[in-house]
Amino acid sequence: MFKRLRSDIQCILDRDPAARTGWEVLTCYPGLHAVILHRPAHWFWNHRLKWVGRFISYLSRFFTGIEIHPGAKIGDRVFFDHAMGVVVGETAEIGDGCTIYQGVTLGGTSLYKGTKRHPTLGKNVVVSAGAKVLGGFTVGDGAKIGSNAVVIKPVPAGATAVGIPARILPSKNGSSADAMQDASRFTAYGISSDPSADEAFNPEWVNQTLKTLQATVAAQEAEIKSLRDAQTQVS
Ligand SMILES: CC(C)(COP(=O)(O)OP(=O)(O)OC[C@H]1O[C@@H](n2cnc3c(N)ncnc32)[C@H](O)[C@@H]1OP(=O)(O)O)[C@@H](O)C(=O)NCCC(=O)NCCS
Repeated sequence: MFKRLRSDIQCILDRDPAARTGWEVLTCYPGLHAVILHRPAHWFWNHRLKWVGRFISYLSRFFTGIEIHPGAKIGDRVFFDHAMGVVVGETAEIGDGCTIYQGVTLGGTSLYKGTKRHPTLGKNVVVSAGAKVLGGFTVGDGAKIGSNAVVIKPVPAGATAVGIPARILPSKNGSSADAMQDASRFTAYGISSDPSADEAFNPEWVNQTLKTLQATVAAQEAEIKSLRDAQTQVS
């Protein structure tokens, strides 16, 4: 139990740039509390104590603002970030390592009891703020759903889906979808790993560029000074 809790806390420290300490995560992260409370709720739901499961889910919603149906299946290291207003339906499944932001709905579009009405997220899927994923289809491993997208069809593994209704973005790497080189590599807010962007944040590169700029400015200042001197001599 403590091992799982440690892993839940660690996954938040790894993924939220604002998280500072394990204690802070344990005491101040509603996403963690929602996951912890979902476990007994799911257990009771599956052991014919459905009202107890429902009631725990209701209490969790009251305290965290995250509504997870006790029937939903949630994997390990799932992080509900901010997550106020998230709704996860009864037959939804969330794979290991998924990240879900505020205002997300994993909802259904049919009313048939006993059928798979809600989506299944593969591993390491990122569902951005405000996105709605509606229907009993699968979102593949490592896929990213853009903020405020409305997804009504399956999303291939590694693809990025944006817009209403959601469309798959063409690949930046030449493959059919925007497949990530390493689906397990999480980037906060679903930011793409753009090598040129990485270069811009490389401290060595920044250092070198600053030195070049300083040298250029010094040379220009010297040139301006000599021009001014020459002008003074003429006048
Ligand atoms: C979906 C997302 C991950 C895509 O990032 P990306 O791969 O870097 O994509 P780009 O920014 O290069 O955009 C590619 C195209 O998709 C469009 N696009 C990106 N995000 C979009 C969105 N949420 N809705 C609609 N279109 C979007 C861009 O306008 C661009 O369109 P174009 O090719 O016609 O110009 C990102 O935009 C996103 O929504 N991140 C979530 C951030 C979030 O939820 N933050 C909350 C934290 S509290």
